[in-house]
Amino acid sequence: MAPAATGGERFDEAERLSGDALRELQLTRLRESLQHAYDNVPCYRESFDKAGVRPEDCRSLGDLAAFPFTVKDDLRAQYPFGMFAVPKSEVRRLHASSGTTGLPTVVGYTERDLSTWADVVARSIHAAGGRPGHTVHIAYGYGLFTGGLGAHYGAERLGCTVVPASGGMTSRQVRIIQDFRPEIIMVTPSYMLTLLDEFERQGIDPRTTSLKVGIFGAEPWTEEMRREIEERFAIDAVDIYGLSEVMGPGVAQECVETKDGLHIWEDHFYPEVVDPITGEVLPDGEHGELVFTSLTKEAMPIVRYRTRDLTRLLPGTARPAFRRMEKITGRSDDMIILRGVNLFPAQIEEIVLRTPGVAPHFQLRLTREGRMDQLTVRAEARPDATTEERTAAVGRIARGVKDGIGVSVAVEIVDPETLERSVGKIKRIVDARPRDTGPHAP
Ligand code: DLL
Repeated sequence: MAPAATGGERFDEAERLSGDALRELQLTRLRESLQHAYDNVPCYRESFDKAGVRPEDCRSLGDLAAFPFTVKDDLRAQYPFGMFAVPKSEVRRLHASSGTTGLPTVVGYTERDLSTWADVVARSIHAAGGRPGHTVHIAYGYGLFTGGLGAHYGAERLGCTVVPASGGMTSRQVRIIQDFRPEIIMVTPSYMLTLLDEFERQGIDPRTTSLKVGIFGAEPWTEEMRREIEERFAIDAVDIYGLSEVMGPGVAQECVETKDGLHIWEDHFYPEVVDPITGEVLPDGEHGELVFTSLTKEAMPIVRYRTRDLTRLLPGTARPAFRRMEKITGRSDDMIILRGVNLFPAQIEEIVLRTPGVAPHFQLRLTREGRMDQLTVRAEARPDATTEERTAAVGRIARGVKDGIGVSVAVEIVDPETLERSVGKIKRIVDARPRDTGPHAP
């Protein structure tokens, strides 16, 4: 079931760059990009001036550390087009975040930006094992979300046949997969699980589909989830990362031959990892918050954007010049602080997926009793789970969390097919505490 052999094959010249050549290219592009931002976006000019730095002060990659960060609120303050560095007439496409927690953030692309984006996504699909002639089923949402269209043009650029399925209408997706016989699927891991249920509901063994590779991203997922999806579908599951503020999907991609974290396409996106509290740049290998500076973007250059995603940088393997980022363990926004202990949904995912009799569907419900926050892990029983297994699972998950994370939680094993299913990015945390009392209050 392995995809076409990938050892040594490269998609483009950038993948053949030596480390030194890459760094030289990065510095040239970084200086140009800082200048472009300074000259054309008033809020960058203001923030650079305030910090006492000029684009020409950036003489080495390390000098970037002197430049100010950009955060999501800075983008919101410029809603809708204040971050654009080109006249509106040169902007070919707009995307926006959903804006459920405030004003949406709007991003724009010139024709060249769209072409760069297609290139990095094509390179990503190639690194995942995709080849010209393959059929790619895209079940990321199409629309203002960057997932669908970003994946779409990348797959076309690689020379694939694209099925623009978008999210939802799950039973029809299964039918289309059966009839159009794609080799590759691009979808959120949580929606892949929804598809899994639907295959089984229709009496089709998911291991018998034409699929060989799944390219999963847009939300955190664990090694346990990889194993679950790979086994249940008999495919290779690889990770794709990106964010709209920086481009969309295709900022970093895991290579199918190593599956050891995501190579960052550093010829276009310069990564740093910083201490989330002090903002100090951390050496490679240390955990912190991922920060990106765009190197080639025209419509909306982005300087030192704080992603809130937590990871660390590691040396390149399958693509030696490009550094890897470790699979994202969580976003600082998704961190639950429970009686002084930090906890991420992905840690619970690991424990739930290792528990016999329990399906890979779970929810984290926060409540408050008196002044104490309580967390209940609600996980679904597998349809074939015995009563004994269900009872044992309660203790096993509670113990796993206590021993592994160091905090007590309540566990509830609910009946099969009772938890809400994902059609895109899944929401794991349900905050049922009184309003405005915690970081997750709506
Ligand atoms: O989710 C872009 C995307 C689409 C990436 C499809 C991959 C596939 P946003 O909606 O702006 O863009 O959300 C970006 O999603 O900061 C991470 O917190 C999270 N995220 C994206 N990819 C991954 C991943 C798209 N592979 C935010 N692992 C990011 C973990 C991810 N989290």
